[in-house]
Amino acid sequence: MALWGGRFSGGPADSVAALSRSVDFDWRLAPYDVRVNIAHLNGLIASGVISAGNGEVIRAGLKALGVEISSGKFSYNDQDEDVHSAIERGLIEKIGPVGGSLRAGRSRNDLVVTDFKLYLIDHLLEVAAEISELISALNQQSKKHQETVAPGFTHLQHAQPIIFGHELAKHTQALLRDLDRIGDWLERNSISPLGAGAIAGSALQPTPEISASELGFTGILENSIDAVSDRDFAAEALFVLAMVGIHLSRIGEEFTIWSTSEFGWVSVADAYSTGSSIMPQKKNPDIAELARGKAGRLVGNLTGLLTTLKGLPFAYNRDLQEDKEPVFDSIETLLVILPALTGMVSTAIFHPSVIGSGVLAGHSLATEVADFLAKAGVPFAQAHEAAGECVKLCEKEGKELHQLSDSQFASVHEKLTPDIRTALTAQGAIDSRSSILGTAVSSVAEQISNLESATQEAVKWISNERHRFSGMMKP
Ligand code: ARG
Repeated sequence: MALWGGRFSGGPADSVAALSRSVDFDWRLAPYDVRVNIAHLNGLIASGVISAGNGEVIRAGLKALGVEISSGKFSYNDQDEDVHSAIERGLIEKIGPVGGSLRAGRSRNDLVVTDFKLYLIDHLLEVAAEISELISALNQQSKKHQETVAPGFTHLQHAQPIIFGHELAKHTQALLRDLDRIGDWLERNSISPLGAGAIAGSALQPTPEISASELGFTGILENSIDAVSDRDFAAEALFVLAMVGIHLSRIGEEFTIWSTSEFGWVSVADAYSTGSSIMPQKKNPDIAELARGKAGRLVGNLTGLLTTLKGLPFAYNRDLQEDKEPVFDSIETLLVILPALTGMVSTAIFHPSVIGSGVLAGHSLATEVADFLAKAGVPFAQAHEAAGECVKLCEKEGKELHQLSDSQFASVHEKLTPDIRTALTAQGAIDSRSSILGTAVSSVAEQISNLESATQEAVKWISNERHRFSGMMKP
């Protein structure tokens, strides 16, 4: 059923109806649409546009419809253009023509954006809850490996020894920033556009601030034209979600590499691996790869919406209907990847002896030699040169740095005394980096304990926010 037949001599051509129709995807907004309709109804009753008696009939009809929507008993049909028309049809079928009173004082332009914001508040918090599960899984693994020695890589080449828990904890840091961004989003965007009408505000809905607070919004937008045309909130959400996807892709990439026979650092549980249809021996890290691969579509969703928004004139344009599918896709993609990745991380078994075995390969203690000289007063540029010469000597002799003799060290630089040996262990290199962000065992332990507290706080915050906004979601 179309909401706009009067001035037309016939219905739209089939091809137009097919192009225009959004209900197949915007039906996801149905529960929020019912909720917003009820807040709008209360405004119309307060302003006297709808009588108290009719108001009760409409409210009861909307609530019943809400229940039927969640049970699946009521849904859209082939004729419905979008979620808003389907719900108006359902209401009129249920309570008769009085259901049509509700269209007074609002437009789909302000309705759709209000529904969409409620959807996003609800679902960003769901994504946040899933992120916090992944964070907890990473914290547990980091804690298990807060003393595991590992080679640290730059350019995927051995760089300096590190603690493996430090390596894992870096992902937690990134994911906590994602939670922070969701918090920022909520703070900035939980503001209601309802009451903007089509473009200019509404004569029949004079106190939209009341519906805004009834819906749980923290305020109301100040410009009706901005209210119906702003999709910054959707683009921002897509950025936040794409950033999460990119973090997951980096975790996926590491697990993929670490689980190769060449590395052998991690065994991924069978439940989180897949096989090959031809090679019976294969156990592939598909979860990690899908996490990596799906980041592409999350980035695509963001760039797609930004491109739609670029250069749009004035207020509502139908182009804006293109805002929803990318957001639904990004949310739904993450809600599928996150639990799988959390399961993969929490059940993974790391092998400390394999991880640590190559720690000194690739002359990874060369910085220690240079630092040793710098501490003895040698300008770092010269210390770096001398350490480089030691590496050259090692390469010539097929040795690692700790295998050079005292006289070989002395031949490179007079200040390379036998004391250098104390600096030439992986553990020594690690423990010397004991500043707050360093990889020393003590620093990593402190970092992990801070991460655990930050995670607990985040979990509490997410559950408070979900509670705070839950009133918005229920009719
Ligand atoms: N389905 C539309 C959308 O998602 C609803 C708003 C329609 N407004 C209009 N003036 N045609 O944007």
